[in-house]
Amino acid sequence: MYLDHCVGCHGISGDGRGAAAARLLTKPRDFRQGTFKFRSTAPGWPPTDDDLMRVTTQGIPYTSMQPYGDLPVEDRLAVVQYIKTFSRRWRGAPAPAVLPLPAEPSDARTPDGVEKGRVAYGRGMCKQCHGVAGDAKGVMAHALIDDWGAHTRPADFTLGMFKSGPRRIDAVRTIITGLSGTAMVSFADVLDDGEAWYLVAYLCSLARPIETREHLAALLLARDYPDEFARHVGAPTPENARDLALRGSDIDAEKQCVKCHSVGSMPARRSNDWHVAHFADPRSVVPLSRMPAFPSLFDADGALNADGLATIAYIQATALPDPRSIGSEY
Ligand code: HEC
Ligand code: HEC
Ligand code: HEC
Repeated sequence: MYLDHCVGCHGISGDGRGAAAARLLTKPRDFRQGTFKFRSTAPGWPPTDDDLMRVTTQGIPYTSMQPYGDLPVEDRLAVVQYIKTFSRRWRGAPAPAVLPLPAEPSDARTPDGVEKGRVAYGRGMCKQCHGVAGDAKGVMAHALIDDWGAHTRPADFTLGMFKSGPRRIDAVRTIITGLSGTAMVSFADVLDDGEAWYLVAYLCSLARPIETREHLAALLLARDYPDEFARHVGAPTPENARDLALRGSDIDAEKQCVKCHSVGSMPARRSNDWHVAHFADPRSVVPLSRMPAFPSLFDADGALNADGLATIAYIQATALPDPRSIGSEY
């Protein structure tokens, strides 16, 4: 299972240095330390099997860690056990204790709840990293290096996105447990009971209105590839976004993607950097892939060119969730 699906990113020895890793913006987890972000356990503890299953099944949205929910459950359980063999942390260790999560206060989804969240956001100094407006532009944002030596971007709440999972309780869990290996520490000890729910209500309220999938796709591309986007497209305005996706649909026909894909048949949700790695070297992310590489989507130095940006914008415009429904998912 691991060799068929995971090795291209996480590497043969579990060190996170598979063939695709160099092209990915968020680096694949190095499994050797046993340090994991999305846990239900206290900081410093390894995740539970359920945590590893949840990540494997749901993936980590907006990163190349895709959901593997289509694989049979026995296969997912098996690959999770296999991942654990890369680290000593599980050998002979007691089962990790799960941190209890507070119950949702009854007023968490009211304007009052959002206001309490705003106050807690100020008191918790969240803005230092996430920014006053929640746009990931806090004063410390540029200086955050994770335990694996990579720059980590704080979450940008204006895009209405959560890597932790699709429900409010997933973000609550992150605030309580922290994301080990990153600057996002546990706030369990400083928050009053239930306050994490108010915080999440406030974070959800920061999502800016985005009307179309094309616009959301352009905002995410401009965030992930700022230099390329500025050079070839300009600003991620709704108008530029529409033109870019349209242009992508022409390229689709031009490059004869339709020889193998019927029009509009690539709706799976993948991150931008997943597509970059896939177009540059399909087998680096899908080990058994029979799709050819498309070097024409890149400049000589490997950076996305105008066609590359347009092609990804077009795919994402069909694959991303309708941005007007994002808030209602929570
Ligand atoms: C296309 C690249 C890619 C492939 C293929 C891939 N992963 Fe990942 N995986 C990632 C990235 C990137 C991260 C780190 C995301 C982050 O730190 O936000 C990750 C993180 C993880 C994590 C750690 C989550 C945490 O809480 O820290 C687990 C567990 C995981 N992957 C399991 C798997 C399994 C199992 C497979 C194969 C079935 C797999 N991955 C295949 C890219 C990939
Ligand atoms: C010192 C910097 C720092 C501070 C302070 C901080 N965060 Fe974070 N936070 C981060 C980083 C970095 C990430 C992203 C980690 C990653 O994705 O690997 C993050 C991620 C998150 C996430 C996960 C978002 C997702 O996509 O699932 C939530 C929720 C969050 N922070 C809430 C808060 C709240 C609420 C506060 C204040 C109580 C806070 N953070 C304070 C750095 C910080
Ligand atoms: C020779 C046939 C062939 C051509 C031509 C081709 N593809 Fe593919 N494509 C495949 C196959 C086979 C897969 C499934 C394996 C994989 O994911 O690599 C695939 C998968 C994909 C996926 C991943 C779908 C997902 O989410 O899992 C995307 C996106 C994609 N192709 C886009 C394109 C685009 C855009 C073009 C034109 C520039 C193109 N393909 C041309 C055969 C082809």
